[in-house]
Amino acid sequence: MEKLVINGGKELFGKIDVSGAKNAAVAIIPAAIMASQGVCVLDNIPDIEDVQCLERILESLNCKIIKGNNTVTIDSTKINSVHANTEDVRRMRASYYLNGALLGRFREAYVDLPGGCPIGVRPIDQHIKGFEALGATVTIEHGTVKIKADRLVGANIFFDVVSVGATINVMLAAALAEGTTVLENVAKEPHVVDVANFLNTMGANIKGAGTDVIRIVGVKELKGCSYSVIPDQIEAGTYMIAAAACGGEVVVNNIIPKHMESITAKLIEMGVEVIENEDSIVVRSNRSLKGVNVKTLPYPGFPTDVQQPMTTLLAVSRGRSIVNESIWESRFKFVDELKKMGANIKVEGRTAIIDGVDKLTGAMLKATDLRAGAAMVIAGLMAEGITEVTCIDHVDRGYPHIEEKFKMLGADIRRVRTEDC
Ligand code: EPU
Repeated sequence: MEKLVINGGKELFGKIDVSGAKNAAVAIIPAAIMASQGVCVLDNIPDIEDVQCLERILESLNCKIIKGNNTVTIDSTKINSVHANTEDVRRMRASYYLNGALLGRFREAYVDLPGGCPIGVRPIDQHIKGFEALGATVTIEHGTVKIKADRLVGANIFFDVVSVGATINVMLAAALAEGTTVLENVAKEPHVVDVANFLNTMGANIKGAGTDVIRIVGVKELKGCSYSVIPDQIEAGTYMIAAAACGGEVVVNNIIPKHMESITAKLIEMGVEVIENEDSIVVRSNRSLKGVNVKTLPYPGFPTDVQQPMTTLLAVSRGRSIVNESIWESRFKFVDELKKMGANIKVEGRTAIIDGVDKLTGAMLKATDLRAGAAMVIAGLMAEGITEVTCIDHVDRGYPHIEEKFKMLGADIRRVRTEDC
């Protein structure tokens, strides 16, 4: 086990390169198994534990994986199983994309229920509703989602809730169904668009991703292709918030500024200077920031995955801030850790009421989930004294080399082995 030891209070200066988007990569890798001819060469793949986990799962299905520097080549032509039942499948969330991918290509899938961060109830009823609408029979037995279809036929599907996972999963299956599928009330996140673009590069016929309605004309087969994953909106937002929290001047490189608009707007409202360039953003902060109210919403609203870093920044911003978490019911558990550092935050259900304090002080913290872990790193970086963050395996699932990137900005942070966690 490892922990991060941070000697806080240093301003951040310099440039960092944002990696490929985790939540796009973890959908595109399972989607690659839909190629029945040729290989998929994927570029800008982030070096994170969730990607390694998926690669092991694909190997267990007899895919051939060749790893390069931020690239992965997937040969899925010799898949010999539609059963994904390993510990890795049960550990991570995105393994559920194998349901849609296997169903599309083989008309059956037997995939164990996924794991993922403990941030609230995470039902998959909308995924199941979509698969059933396409003609599949779905049952859940002994922790495995069993899906089978004699034929998959396009359908009109209106999702009851806006779900990233259901939108992508049903889009995967529909790409290889007979006829036309129309998905309504879909998620519009950049990674949904990226998966649709990837499928189209493989030969699919998908239009409308990024709007409320996606129209998919099923094709007979998909082929391998080369594809580069978009930059990670959430990683970029995390570094922007860290720069605002610590003060200094940071250039966040290799991003799509349009994807950052809700975060940029909030930081500007707080008094941070944010300058957008073509594929980078400069963040300048003197740490004298004012509190704001934030409500998490599906894209293009403020992303729930940046809520915890933002709440941490607001803990040291002037006056009272209210943060409302509208996507996940338990994404404020990390607040107890911030309180150890002197934060004044009261949580009532899905709302956090934050009264800004002058400073945080270093403490021993435990990462409770991926984004909470990143928030604790930010808290440690801006706090006075030493902070230790344990259970950083959560952080490694989604942030490539976080301590290396912060070191490049002048932070005093190191990774050490520990028995804790
Ligand atoms: N929901 C349902 N039924 C469903 C699916 C979702 O009620 O069948 C509800 C959920 O309970 C939640 C809301 O719909 O309240 C949104 O869930 P969504 O399906 O969009 O989330 P997800 O696909 O499970 C992905 C990301 C999450 C991110 C959410 C929201 C991946 C692997 N995970 O999860 O990312 O928070 O979308 O944007 O893409 C993270 O990266 O830290 C993370 C948790």
